[in-house]
Amino acid sequence: MDHMSRIETLIGSMTLAEKLGQLTMTAAGYAVTGPVIAGDSTDAIKAGTIGNLLNLFDAGHVQQLQRLAIEESRLGIPLLIGFDVIHGHRTLFPVPLGEAALFDPEAWGMTARESSHEAAADGIAMAFAPMLDVARDPRWGRSAEGPGEDPWLGAQIARAKVRGIQGGDLSAPGALAAVAKHFCAYGAVMAGRDYASVDISERSVLEIHVPPFAAALAAGVAAVMPAFTDLAGVPLTAHVGLLRGLLREQLGFDGVIVSDYNAIAELMRHGVAATLADAAALALKAGVDIDMMSNAYRLGLPAALERGSVTMTQIDAAVRRVLALKQQLGLFEQPYRRGAAAESAETRAGRRRLARSIGARAIVMLTNRNAVLPLAGSLRRLAVIGPLADAAAEMGGPWSLAGDPATHVSVLAGLRAALPGADILHASGLAIRADELPAMQPTMDICDAADAIVLCLGEAADMSGEAACRAHLGLPGQQRAYAQGVLDRARALGKPVVAILFSGRPLVVPWLIEQADAVLAAWFLGSEAGNAIADVLCGRVSPSGRTPMSWPRAVGQIPVFFGQRPSGRPADGNDHYTSRYLDIPNAPLFAFGHGLTYGRFALSNLQVTPLVASEGDTIEVRVDIANVGARAGQETVFLFTHDPIASVARPLLELKGFGKIELRPGERGTVTLCLAVSELRFLGPDLQPLIEPGEIEILVGPCAERSQLLVQPIRLRVTAAQR
Ligand code: NOJ
Repeated sequence: MDHMSRIETLIGSMTLAEKLGQLTMTAAGYAVTGPVIAGDSTDAIKAGTIGNLLNLFDAGHVQQLQRLAIEESRLGIPLLIGFDVIHGHRTLFPVPLGEAALFDPEAWGMTARESSHEAAADGIAMAFAPMLDVARDPRWGRSAEGPGEDPWLGAQIARAKVRGIQGGDLSAPGALAAVAKHFCAYGAVMAGRDYASVDISERSVLEIHVPPFAAALAAGVAAVMPAFTDLAGVPLTAHVGLLRGLLREQLGFDGVIVSDYNAIAELMRHGVAATLADAAALALKAGVDIDMMSNAYRLGLPAALERGSVTMTQIDAAVRRVLALKQQLGLFEQPYRRGAAAESAETRAGRRRLARSIGARAIVMLTNRNAVLPLAGSLRRLAVIGPLADAAAEMGGPWSLAGDPATHVSVLAGLRAALPGADILHASGLAIRADELPAMQPTMDICDAADAIVLCLGEAADMSGEAACRAHLGLPGQQRAYAQGVLDRARALGKPVVAILFSGRPLVVPWLIEQADAVLAAWFLGSEAGNAIADVLCGRVSPSGRTPMSWPRAVGQIPVFFGQRPSGRPADGNDHYTSRYLDIPNAPLFAFGHGLTYGRFALSNLQVTPLVASEGDTIEVRVDIANVGARAGQETVFLFTHDPIASVARPLLELKGFGKIELRPGERGTVTLCLAVSELRFLGPDLQPLIEPGEIEILVGPCAERSQLLVQPIRLRVTAAQR
């Protein structure tokens, strides 16, 4: 039977309850990701009144439930099983913010593909990923789950992830349906507090928050999840303008919109619906097809239908989209294919190797004074201390629901394996959140005996991710006092201290950056964290990660990001009435894109052709790079633009590209980047895209710190402002 007629025949024969079942997704309770948990769904699956499940993995479990739907429900429609495959499944890769630091679309795609294959082998057909929320406020715990502060970067990640998760053919056994989430502007929650209100300009929504989703749509993403939050008073789950208008009509999205967890019922708490039936009607009318965990469609839509606030045509349209997705996933033809074959030991080992190499590349070396890293080969005794030194379970980070902490590698284990000849001394010193500082003596004894100290500090895995916001962005508990004790002792003894920071966000630790000899941002690197860190510490891998979020000097600077507008009174130390703080500089401690390597690079000879460009041209940007350091390394260069005079004030820097080059000491090379003139389009005063004639600055360099960028102005010759 052809696909359309199968779907239409099914819709024609479904009862209302069966239709609403296809629009319902319920947690199976194997993993818990939200506040409400449904009871046993067995009877509802048999009755055809639950058509989709989440929080279930393991092929055996999945197939058992799938069998109920296929064999025991009247119409035999397969279940769609979704899961939070956020940064790996059983094998964990770095948290998305850490992976963004790779600036490597191929790597982003590879980990997405591997995660999908692994999750598919567990019977899963839909990944609630990629998370595409641009985040400029590190207090927001969900910064860890996304691409960081920049919309252009978010769009590159979106494309790579959607292609990686879905592959070329959704019905392939290893392919999952991707869900671009959370549409949109969730990252702009007030004061960085999760689920809080969002109230930003339409321009910010369109320029900053929509582009990663537009890129996901262009890459063919199967589904979109609206954010929990409201935008200027309208919850996204009921946002007709953004869901029906922008997403469906303007951007042409005809895939599935799946609500977030209990988000339809929460329309009542938002204060826009009085009853569950009202909430259900609002969501359906806005375009939400699947109700995750509210039971609002099952319980509320019959009443809403009866009183005419929704129509059967609207219900059928949603059912059609859900069935079409099941069809595309090949679930009708082969409902048991995902999870049919166990993966080989070789496949699993290959994935661990990938996790190790991606993990090492995600590390951002923030400082490295006197080239203290890599650790000298002659080193005999190493102190590996601090609450995160032997913390295998924490290494997975947030959203590691299917990962087995027992298989994660701690820093201690990684270094022991990497340095079999060295004497590794360990004390954890204190717990991550310890309120009181325990006796320092055991730690001091170890520091006294060691040649160098690796001090592992930071957050626990559950201190970032959903509902994990922090008002203070320093080290939790008594870690600062502990670390200060270690730093003081090490200074007195003349021993180097290398600090490894674990976090799902930039931390505000200027005192540590100031005093430690080297600091590595290790995010949460996943299953192979300890091995990846050991690879960098021992010099097997030259660090190459670049921070995708600015690192603030103080919480009071937040939001601090490179894409700020100029101001009529730009900061000027000699002029009181300018835009600045009295107590700290405006600039972050580490700019977006910062990250050192074991090489040292000098950029020169920026060449841009043509210098006068027209609509339709592609501008070629070349820059020479020399490794003037003593070790090999990979340099990343960023391409920014700035439009100094436009009809709307443009950000001081806009990211438009990046490139990489590996160079041995003394070696030189050239990086070539391309920029289509159409990329210089922006939203004019009426929010319509246009391109204006005049000067554009092309800026290239190692990070978003203007003083480190080479600049070449060009002229755009377009007849007049062109739409
Ligand atoms: C709530 C989160 O916001 C969302 O990202 C996730 O996919 C769902 N829970 C399901 O766990």
